[in-house]
Amino acid sequence: MDAMTPPTSPLLDLEGRVVLVTGASRGIGAATARLLGSCNARVAIHFGKSRAQAEEVAADIARAGGPKAAVFQAELGDDDERRRLHRDVVATLGDPLLLVHNAGIYVRNPFEETDDAAFLSRWRTTQAVNLESAAHLTLLALPAMRAARFGRIVMVASRAAFRAETDAASYAVSKAGMVSLARCLARNEGPRGITANSICPGWVDTAMARPDVAARKAEIEGEIPLGRIATPEDCARAILFYLSPLAPYANGTALGLNGGSFLH
Ligand SMILES: NC(=O)c1ccc[n+]([C@@H]2O[C@H](COP(=O)([O-])OP(=O)(O)OC[C@H]3O[C@@H](n4cnc5c(N)ncnc54)[C@H](OP(=O)(O)O)[C@@H]3O)[C@@H](O)[C@H]2O)c1
Repeated sequence: MDAMTPPTSPLLDLEGRVVLVTGASRGIGAATARLLGSCNARVAIHFGKSRAQAEEVAADIARAGGPKAAVFQAELGDDDERRRLHRDVVATLGDPLLLVHNAGIYVRNPFEETDDAAFLSRWRTTQAVNLESAAHLTLLALPAMRAARFGRIVMVASRAAFRAETDAASYAVSKAGMVSLARCLARNEGPRGITANSICPGWVDTAMARPDVAARKAEIEGEIPLGRIATPEDCARAILFYLSPLAPYANGTALGLNGGSFLH
């Protein structure tokens, strides 16, 4: 199934539900938005700076005959912008009962840093964008999910959550936090019909990974038993699994998606 092939099974039908995909202007989020649109979800395509790319994703969904999709801008490091994002999505598409916390930044922040203020600034920005925004947007969406006695929450975490990173602890900690956040939500919200899970990709072919992959492609691929880095569509399919009727009993899990490069 490619990103825009309509589902042929009711097990992949998202029944016109509203899904908020953060960071859907490019990379994993864009592939996910396209796939979910093709599976009959009403997609809220969030972006930070890349409006034109977000609008292309919406146009692709419309061209493929998907239900209504719309684009929403917000800086996810900012509390008020997250509140506005949630309000705008509800007003335009309805309450999002499906959430994909995908937007993220990867910033190196080594402990060799001598400027503690610069270290703290990178640390705080990473936690705010990657982790705090997932908790905050979930908090805002939960009342409607509880009223519906249905909700599906997916964190796009990372292999870094478990492997640890020598020069990007702020990133690894934010991703471990997302895995833990899904587990906390799984236990707290499971009794109300809401599930929360994480996917944990290794290298994925997107703008985020391209500089490293370009610099040491052979080394990176050599560590992956499947011999290639992931495509954004590999991740989108795993996210669809958790959102779809295929996975009603998955709750609090973390799915490794790294081609076998890091097994634990
Ligand atoms: N690529 C990998 O190898 C890899 C591996 C494991 C996990 N991941 C995770 O997968 C997720 C998606 O990554 P990707 O590779 O698809 O990255 P990407 O191509 O760099 O896309 C990042 C997305 O996040 C949005 N974003 C970033 N900072 C934002 C902010 N402050 N406010 C609002 N939006 C913001 C961007 O929006 P705009 O462009 O519109 O500003 C963009 O849509 C991330 O959470 C990343 O940590 C990636």
